[in-house]
Amino acid sequence: MRPLHRKGFWYIPGRLYDLAFGLIFYGSRRRVATAVERDGLYPWLDVCCGTGSQFRGSGGTRGPVFGLDKSCDMIRYAAARAPGRPFVCGDAARLPFKDEAFRAVTVSFGLHDKSADIRHTMMAEARRVLAPGGRLVAVDFENPWNAKSQAGTLVVRAVERLAGGEHYRNGRDFLKRGGLRAFLRENGFVETARHEIEVGSISIVVASPR
Ligand SMILES: C[S@@+](CC[C@H](N)C(=O)[O-])C[C@H]1O[C@@H](n2cnc3c(N)ncnc32)[C@H](O)[C@@H]1O
Repeated sequence: MRPLHRKGFWYIPGRLYDLAFGLIFYGSRRRVATAVERDGLYPWLDVCCGTGSQFRGSGGTRGPVFGLDKSCDMIRYAAARAPGRPFVCGDAARLPFKDEAFRAVTVSFGLHDKSADIRHTMMAEARRVLAPGGRLVAVDFENPWNAKSQAGTLVVRAVERLAGGEHYRNGRDFLKRGGLRAFLRENGFVETARHEIEVGSISIVVASPR
């Protein structure tokens, strides 16, 4: 076990992702954690957790938390960077958890890059594992709503292009369909709170299943 753990700790794509986005996303991770902590929404599942940075430094420490990602390499990295926290290698469109197991499900930048079918199934799964009164907290892109958000979108689009063909195409499709606001509405979630980040046209939304 020990060599695998060490290999996970130095997983280069994980290190590079955290280096590139750690500071940029610090504020949004803090807001997500606050939305969960304020109402004591534990157990908390973070799907498409990537490097697991949602549970390092920016919060998420006041109750049981779980991270899930389809990339087992990322999961090994996440687990090595946050020893003691449970991280699961699995599919957000087929969650390996029983019904109503969580009071919060969060997903940050994990919707726009998926195909419409997968996104839709992910929301059905989030709804299934949420306990009554539970909340979804989602962070993702909207269509620009003013000049400042339009300018920031140019940078975001360049980064999205770097991420590659399918990711980029799915992201364009996500916005064409109306971005996060329309996506949550169409998938039966009602917004209870929203915070918008102009630069990048990003919103952080707390929502309840209808
Ligand atoms: C853009 S990253 C976002 C990572 C993280 N939430 C963040 O805010 O930095 C999207 C993540 O979704 C994961 N992913 C892709 N398809 C998935 C699936 N079907 N189930 C779970 N995770 C998936 C990828 O491995 C990747 O780590």
